[in-house]
Amino acid sequence: MPNPFEPYRLGRTTLTNRIVMAPMTRSRAYGPGASPTDLMATYYAQRASAGLIVTEGTQPSIVGQGYPDTPGLHSAEQVRAWRMVTDAVHDRGGHIFAQLMHVGRVADPALLPDGLVPVGASAVAAQGQIYTHAGPKPFSVPQPLDEAGIQQTIDDFVDAAANAVDAGFDGVELHGANGYLIHQFLSTNANQRTDRWGGTPENRARFGVEVARAVVGRIGADRVGFRISPGNTAQDIEEAEIEATYTGLVRELDNLSIAYLHMLEVPGQRDLTRRLRGLWRRSLILNPDTRPNPTGPGVLALIEDGTADLVAYGALFLANPDLPARLAAGGPFNTPDRSTFFGGDEHGYTDYPTLEEASGRTDQVA
Ligand SMILES: Cc1cc2nc3c(=O)[nH]c(=O)nc-3n(C[C@H](O)[C@H](O)[C@H](O)COP(=O)(O)O)c2cc1C
Repeated sequence: MPNPFEPYRLGRTTLTNRIVMAPMTRSRAYGPGASPTDLMATYYAQRASAGLIVTEGTQPSIVGQGYPDTPGLHSAEQVRAWRMVTDAVHDRGGHIFAQLMHVGRVADPALLPDGLVPVGASAVAAQGQIYTHAGPKPFSVPQPLDEAGIQQTIDDFVDAAANAVDAGFDGVELHGANGYLIHQFLSTNANQRTDRWGGTPENRARFGVEVARAVVGRIGADRVGFRISPGNTAQDIEEAEIEATYTGLVRELDNLSIAYLHMLEVPGQRDLTRRLRGLWRRSLILNPDTRPNPTGPGVLALIEDGTADLVAYGALFLANPDLPARLAAGGPFNTPDRSTFFGGDEHGYTDYPTLEEASGRTDQVA
């Protein structure tokens, strides 16, 4: 029976265990030009006992940024700063992939320099509000990407992936989940196109597949992961043909031989997870979404029963820098503090104690 605490071969690296830190935006990239800081290096280094860390969503281009103080991977300055992070994680024996996140229509135009506007598959604004420096604001109508714009966006992903390798990352995870650009193309409401990038499940999957194909061509398949969240309605996403869309997408990604598929599983989709698992011949990372509670220790059984090869933890990893040790010990776990999730200083970021440091100061949450 596979054991979550045993090493695992992923792509070109051997991970020390099968517990993954899920990507989490923390909006603390206060370095010049949206670059990482020393504090971010400390935060990730503290969590290096994860088998694999997937970083916070990182914009591959200026127009791909949607939230304040998220880091990028599109300038030499950012590459230099990320090197501090990857060195710190590697020095502690960890492995780290950069999550490349282009937000598409989920952007605050006020964050973009003059002349740049949020882009999307179609001119359809998301319903709801976006978090900005100035408080919540309604989403804006994106400019639909034309053929040249799509090719440019794919090139931006490729350049960012090459930058990630230059910065010392073990690979990149392409963010195809949670209502951002790749997911907008997959959806049936954000994507109203009638050309080869929309209309049918195959066409809606094309953008994600072509991004993956191009990134594989530049940095190699064993350095590429892809995150999906079938059925996730985040950021006003509707998906009318989930089964057909994701079956097609997963088959195409499987043909590209990428290192892993990362599934954020929304409640009620376990059967789909199992069906997609059946199509997927490579490593599967599973992150069951158990909101309002964070994913807890129970999901380790999904490795033992073969549903997944690795499991990812978000909020619990945020609050427990030594999460694998705590899972092995059966807890206890620090409670994540939502008020410090996005932006701020070391408080709620690098000051969560390890088991050793806590010596009795922890609250049990799971
Ligand atoms: C503070 C915070 C930020 C997040 N940012 C991202 C992100 O940048 N990219 C992403 O794919 N998911 C993001 N997520 C979703 C998590 O990766 C994860 O899928 C979700 O929290 C459910 O897992 P959990 O129950 O273990 O927290 C974020 C979650 C949290 C709590």
